[in-house]
Amino acid sequence: MPLFRRPSSEPLWRDEFSISTADERYVSRRQFTKFLTLTSLAMFAGNLWILLRTWFYREPVYPTRPVARAGEIPVGGVKIFTYPEASEACLLIRTGQDSYVAYSQKCTHLSCAVYYSASRGRLECPCHDGAFSLADGSVLQGPPRRPLPRVVLERRGDELVATGIEVNRSVVA
Ligand code: FES
Repeated sequence: MPLFRRPSSEPLWRDEFSISTADERYVSRRQFTKFLTLTSLAMFAGNLWILLRTWFYREPVYPTRPVARAGEIPVGGVKIFTYPEASEACLLIRTGQDSYVAYSQKCTHLSCAVYYSASRGRLECPCHDGAFSLADGSVLQGPPRRPLPRVVLERRGDELVATGIEVNRSVVA
């Protein structure tokens, strides 16, 4: 069956809304060209958008800010602090005599506040039973698909200083 058909003397609406099933399969050359042109333009615009985004993307710059004094919290203890903005709550957990970890408190599923479960040794989200590893913030269970962003900590003398946020972009399948 031919793909193209010569223009007929029928009004356009009859061509577009044919009542004949056989006629519905025909595509006029003009329609086909229009479709190809619009599709190409859409793909060009999409690629241009991706190019511009890549071009103008800048790595975020995080402030360096003291979040706690070493020894301020006991082993197994937790401190809530904000970083990098005053509205972004984070959890600092002292996991050993000289070891600390810090994560964003915002669950990567639907943004509920996660908390540290000392009995299970992991971070848990009460909203939908999500759980994250204390070691690296990876997803242990529940609906979250992305790990918790980790706050990078440095020990400077007597202070624990936040210097950035590490976002692991791996997604749980
Ligand atoms: S919001 Fe945390 S598991 Fe759904």
